[in-house]
Amino acid sequence: MEWGMRNRLAQLIQSDGHCLFLPIDHGYFQGPTSRLEKPGETIRPLIPYCDGIFVTRGVLRSSIDPDNTKPIILRVSGGTSMVGKDLSDEGITTSMEEAIRLNASAVGISIFVGSDHEKESLLNLAKLVDEGEKFGIPVMAVTAVGKELEKRDARYLALCCRIAAELGARIVKTYWCENFEKVVGGCPVPIVMAGGPKVDNELQVFEFVYDGMQKGAIGVNLGRNIWQHDYPVAMIKALRAIIHKKATPKEASEIFEYEKNKRQKKDI
Ligand code: 5RP
Repeated sequence: MEWGMRNRLAQLIQSDGHCLFLPIDHGYFQGPTSRLEKPGETIRPLIPYCDGIFVTRGVLRSSIDPDNTKPIILRVSGGTSMVGKDLSDEGITTSMEEAIRLNASAVGISIFVGSDHEKESLLNLAKLVDEGEKFGIPVMAVTAVGKELEKRDARYLALCCRIAAELGARIVKTYWCENFEKVVGGCPVPIVMAGGPKVDNELQVFEFVYDGMQKGAIGVNLGRNIWQHDYPVAMIKALRAIIHKKATPKEASEIFEYEKNKRQKKDI
C-alpha cells in the first residue's frame, strides 16, 4: 500500500485496529436533523472522544474549527432529499481536488444495492475509488437502506458489503444485524457499524456494538444514538470503552451512569 493511503488509514483506524467515527452528515438529505440543527455546537464536546468525523464540505467549512478537529471523512455523494422522488438517485457532489484541499483523510459515498439506481451508485463508487487511489485517499462505502429499514438483514447486508469491497472500497459502513458474522465473514475489507435511528435504551446500543465487535467489525460510524441522546458525552465515552478497551455492555453501562451522574451534578 502506498505511503499516503496507509498514513490516511492510520489517522482514522487507531493502533489497536479499531475506530470510532462520528457521522454528522445527516443534513445532506434530511435537512436540519433533530439535535444537529447547529452541527458545530453538537459536535464540539464530542470531538475529543472520536477518531474521525463524517461530514459534508459545507458543514466542515462552516462548523468545524480547523485548529481543533479529528481526521475528516468527507461525504461526497448526495443530490437527493427525503422529500424527493428517490433517495437512491445520488451522484458525486464533491471533487477529489476539493477533498485534498480540505485535507480529508478519506471520502465516503452511499451505494443503493437493489434500488432503481443500483448501477449508477455502484459505478459512482468505482469511479471514486479510481480517483481516490490516484491520490492515496481511501474510500468508505456506505451501504444505504434508504427508508426501508427492514432491509437490515445479514443476507442483504453481506451482499452490499461484498460488492462495495469488490469495487475497491477501503472501508465499508453497514448496519449491525442478527448473524452479523455472516456480513463480516464475506467482506475482505474492514467494516464499521452505523447506529440507525435513536433507540430508547442505551444498553441496546452497547449490546449491538459489543456483539458486532466480537464478530469482527473494527468499530462504528455512529451518530444519532450519540448526539440525539440527552447525555451525548456519556454515550460516546461508554462506546469508546467498548471499542478501544474491550468493555462489556455492563461495563459500558457503568461508565455511562458514572458520566451521566457527573454531568447531572454539574447542572445543579
Ligand atoms: C447518513 C449516514 C450516517 O453517516 C450513518 O447512517 C450513521 O449514522 P447513524 O448512526 O445516525 O445511523 O450515512 O446518511
